Amino acid sequence: MPIQALYLRLQIPNMTLLYHNTSAIIQVERENRPYKRGAEMSEVAPLKNGWMLVNEGRIIEIGSGEKPASNRYDEAIDLQGQLVLPTFVDSHTHLVYAANREDEFAQRLAGKSYAEIAAAGGGILNSAKKLAAASEEALFESAQHRLEALIRMGTGALEIKSGYGLSTEAELKILRVARKLEAESGIPIKRTFLGAHAVPASFNGDTDAYVKLVIEEMLPAVVEEGLAHYVDVFCEEGYFSLDQSLAIIEAAEAYGLPAKVHVNQFNSLGAVEAMVDRGALSLDHLEVLSDKELNYIGESQTIATALPGCSLFLNIPYTPGRKLIDANAIFCLATDFNPGSAPSGNMALMMSLACSQMKLRTEEALVAATLNGAAALELSEDLGSLEVGKWANFMTLEPGYSLASLAYHFGHNLISEVYIKGEKRT
Ligand code: NIG
Ligand code: FE
Repeated sequence: MPIQALYLRLQIPNMTLLYHNTSAIIQVERENRPYKRGAEMSEVAPLKNGWMLVNEGRIIEIGSGEKPASNRYDEAIDLQGQLVLPTFVDSHTHLVYAANREDEFAQRLAGKSYAEIAAAGGGILNSAKKLAAASEEALFESAQHRLEALIRMGTGALEIKSGYGLSTEAELKILRVARKLEAESGIPIKRTFLGAHAVPASFNGDTDAYVKLVIEEMLPAVVEEGLAHYVDVFCEEGYFSLDQSLAIIEAAEAYGLPAKVHVNQFNSLGAVEAMVDRGALSLDHLEVLSDKELNYIGESQTIATALPGCSLFLNIPYTPGRKLIDANAIFCLATDFNPGSAPSGNMALMMSLACSQMKLRTEEALVAATLNGAAALELSEDLGSLEVGKWANFMTLEPGYSLASLAYHFGHNLISEVYIKGEKRT
């Protein structure tokens, strides 16, 4: 059933629901912490035999053992001994796109590199060409289909970037689709303007001229329609220089849009220190990261977001997650779901990769994929842990499975039920 129909059918009733008979509820918080950093990330506070009371989609009480008196709730939902966890918050996706790029994958398997394919008009420019030709309706439908798959895999909130438009009209189109996805799915979605994702071929390599268009035309149009919460730039050799990236994030800052930036994917352009100094909300990718840079992040409030699906798929280094956590960073995991470098939206798989490849503990990986993801979208007042006052966005694992199983059975979907604002979605 399409999420839209589901959402309309499941109107949130003004009644109190009791969710009980769990083996445990994990990542229960009581202090309203916006994130966990460094050593705090290994605490997930399991509450054995936990129960939750939910009213109008929000948790109003959490307890354990004996369930509350029957006059405290209108309806009881028996979770049949399952383990309960908060849903994932996927803070970095490019979910709205017109077509997959399996053909480029085949070219890579035949020996071409990601950079060679991009230089020959593939990559982001290929996606932009296809997106220009797609209607808003078609884009919405395909993204909605992908969003349903993400929800089934436990994602209960996410970020969606533009960046496959590269013209004012097409960038606006993507962000409008993302806005409609939130309205029709009921899933919290934050939108990021990534006009500076690549330079369109029509600019003949004149990146400065394109940056001017991004700053003087696209950004004001995006702001005018209230379409973006954040700004992003692909700060990388062959894409946007550090100075160009800074010019864009400074222009966006004047409109009140914080920065979430693609940095250090293939090369370090010195962006880490510069972006931290400008108070970037998050720095994403960070596959190429010196100890000096990672310590700089660890001492800051900027969130370090690793995208292990991209490392796996492009066969590039993994972000040094262990070192970042040991350096006290606010470390976050996201999928980077996109048709070129990371065609998987499976957050549990990102946890597996973080554990096996970056040497995280399963508790750290869960915090990175939930509370710290929420922090990377400024949503931790509402999401990321199971806590009084937050949305009841939670998932259950099939009986017999533990938090460790979630990372251990890599590539499986052990998630059996997903609840958004207290309503069962799958
Ligand atoms: O996050 N690095 C830049 N952008 C995307 C990939 C874009 C694409 O290949 O379509 C990323 O990996
Ligand atoms: Fe990305």
